[in-house]
Amino acid sequence: MLFSFCYFLQSFCLAQSNAPQLGKDPIKKVIAAMTLEEKAKLLVGAGRGFGPPPPAAAPGKKDSANKASAPPPAAPAGPMIGRTESKVPGAAGNTYAIPRLGIPSIVVSDGPAGLRISPIRKGDSSKTYYATAFPVGTLLASSWDVDLVKQVGVAFGYEVHEYGVDVLLGPGMNIHRNPLGGRNFEYYSEDPLVTGKMAAAIVNGIQSNGVGTSIKHYVANNQETHRNTVNTIVSERAMREIYLRGFEIAVKESQPWTVMTSYNKLNGTYTSERNDLVTTILRNEWGFKGFVMTDWGGGRDPVAQMNAGNDLIMPGNPNQVKVIIDAVNAKQLDAKVLDKNVERMLNIIVQSPSFKNYKYSDAPDLKKDAAVSRMAASEGMVLLKNNGAALPFNAVKKVALFGNTSYDIIAGGTGSGDVNKAYTVSLLQGLQNAGLQVTDPLAKSYPAYIADAKAKRPKGRGMFQAPPPIPEMDIAKADIDQQANDADVAVITLGRNAGEGADRKLENDYYLSSAEKDLLKNVSDAFHAKGKKVVVVLNIGGVIEVSSWRDGVDAILLAWQPGLEAGNAITDVLSGKVNASGKLATTFPVDYKDVPSAKNFPGKEFLDQATGEGFRKQVPAEVTYEDGIYVGYRYYNTFKVEPAYEFGYGLSYTTFNYSNLKLSAAAFKGKIEVTVTVTNSGKVAGKEVAQLYLSAPASKMDKPTIELKGFAKTHLLQPGESQTLSFEITPKDLSSYDTQNEAWVAESGNYKASIGASSKDIKQTATFTLAKQLVVEKDNKALTPQMEITEMKK
Ligand code: BGC
Repeated sequence: MLFSFCYFLQSFCLAQSNAPQLGKDPIKKVIAAMTLEEKAKLLVGAGRGFGPPPPAAAPGKKDSANKASAPPPAAPAGPMIGRTESKVPGAAGNTYAIPRLGIPSIVVSDGPAGLRISPIRKGDSSKTYYATAFPVGTLLASSWDVDLVKQVGVAFGYEVHEYGVDVLLGPGMNIHRNPLGGRNFEYYSEDPLVTGKMAAAIVNGIQSNGVGTSIKHYVANNQETHRNTVNTIVSERAMREIYLRGFEIAVKESQPWTVMTSYNKLNGTYTSERNDLVTTILRNEWGFKGFVMTDWGGGRDPVAQMNAGNDLIMPGNPNQVKVIIDAVNAKQLDAKVLDKNVERMLNIIVQSPSFKNYKYSDAPDLKKDAAVSRMAASEGMVLLKNNGAALPFNAVKKVALFGNTSYDIIAGGTGSGDVNKAYTVSLLQGLQNAGLQVTDPLAKSYPAYIADAKAKRPKGRGMFQAPPPIPEMDIAKADIDQQANDADVAVITLGRNAGEGADRKLENDYYLSSAEKDLLKNVSDAFHAKGKKVVVVLNIGGVIEVSSWRDGVDAILLAWQPGLEAGNAITDVLSGKVNASGKLATTFPVDYKDVPSAKNFPGKEFLDQATGEGFRKQVPAEVTYEDGIYVGYRYYNTFKVEPAYEFGYGLSYTTFNYSNLKLSAAAFKGKIEVTVTVTNSGKVAGKEVAQLYLSAPASKMDKPTIELKGFAKTHLLQPGESQTLSFEITPKDLSSYDTQNEAWVAESGNYKASIGASSKDIKQTATFTLAKQLVVEKDNKALTPQMEITEMKK
């Protein structure tokens, strides 16, 4: 009674009661004053059915920026809506407030490419609440520039702070195991070092604003097919070296406030229910200090989640609270476990802007951040091909602009990784903004064609599915010939979109559609007949097939999904205002069948065991990672499978020389410094990404021929200018995970350090020795698969 009375008269009651207060009294004392019900409610998000006053939107009403998620059995009905209407409409969720103890609700919101909130608010026509769409994760990683990515994080976190959000639900950092992964655009790379360094950089940037992040999805969530049921079967070694390693780097180098567990099972158990994953590895081995939350509706058993150390269940429902309370009362769950979970949450809540009562402006300077977005976008685009100096535009005044997405560009993918942005600059606008002329009738017929196709497109696919792509417009050959007469150059944009809830398809997605192939051929024939160049811009979130058509065009710029300034940023690179300096952080194979995981992606489904109907249908599924540690270039390089464009590859408008590779010692003792000089040997200013690969002796363990151990990007080097880059090789860099001994072990013998402009274009090498085997780190037995996995071996 006193409790509910106090709920509405907080300040009166605070003065009356002597309850300890968060921030003033020791956290342990605050916990001691909490009822079991309060603890359980704090540990379950305020998602549905209860939460801090005032009440949420009417049941079943969905905010445009919110969404439904696959429901766990405990929360069978209706969409899960963050009860954040009173503070930040459109945020993904919030936690339960306990005013009598001074514990505020904190607001958490998506997503990796920009803050995802509702731009329009009910009863508020005075202003809008748009956020900046930054380039997607895959583009940021292709910059190989951690300072730049941190700078993006600083801008990003500023919007999080100014819109009243406490924790940003990102970055996404799952490994690109397979090009068809529907959320690859949100993630960074096929390589764990690039992934970990990028995540750490953006987390440090975002958190420098006094807000938190949630690195996700922990872990082995590399597909969307049956994401809520799939049992991912992976060896301990592949887990340690590939799938966990990026998270380990991010935790150690940036201490994110929170970690989000994934939807999938890992070796038989939901990740949020695995104590070895969430407590032994994350906290005990890596030293993670924050709290862990589930993905939205992730996992099944709240008691197992509490025991695992997955402190917060999101978005939360009253059944989960009841299950926790009942389990404690029935002595099936130790109350001390809850105290620990609560303590970890309060340790973060006390740092939050909500706790500090930060007076957010709801009016961040979006113009300033758009400039950051544009700059970052141009730094992460990758020049894949540039024959006959087709780029940058030289004496180009008139552009014949083909392809739907030239006019309807894709800033980022769909689902929770999407951002409600005020605008997206199309390539048409970008070219025009730079003073270039786009020829008619294309400049008029494409927008009309797209508007018409969109009006006819089936509605109601929801946020979980990318809208069906609009087929390429059929343009008569005579009209293309006319364009070849009128314009100086042809630019053709090919676009792809995907997002959470589904993986990509091979037909008309990974492979080009026949309309796209016809367009490429007809335009190339017509323009080449007039001695004019054809440039392809790839506006994609994940890898596509390129080998069958690339020979027919002169240049290919991989623009990825570049955020809201897309057209301006692409034009910056096409025009040469910015020299291309991005490199691939993920391989472009010659064909899908070359992908090491092609045979087991997305795994098996057991339709005969399906439960539920329609939206609630759950199909048990299983995927076995037989590719083991051979993900991406580790496979292509070791098994000598030629890719179309290899990991680390990217051209520039200038050229670079590498010289003077030096190691600080010929024998490894504790560490080795590597230095190399990079010189701009061309005619225009540019930046180069140098990569350090290591080849280790493999007399006891199977090892990839090379593995990335460091990377560095030069500053903008003027023609003739040099810069010396340095790298450090640590004991862990020499080692591999020895499953038998649960340890990182470096074998004795000869090591080769290679400095490459890509994983294949090695410029300089040097060797050193390790006299005696090193046990670099002893870990715990964890994540053991329940079955034998037939893994790929060299
Ligand atoms: C996604 C998460 C996201 C969460 C909240 C889930 O469906 O997998 O990445 O943060 O929803 O919107």
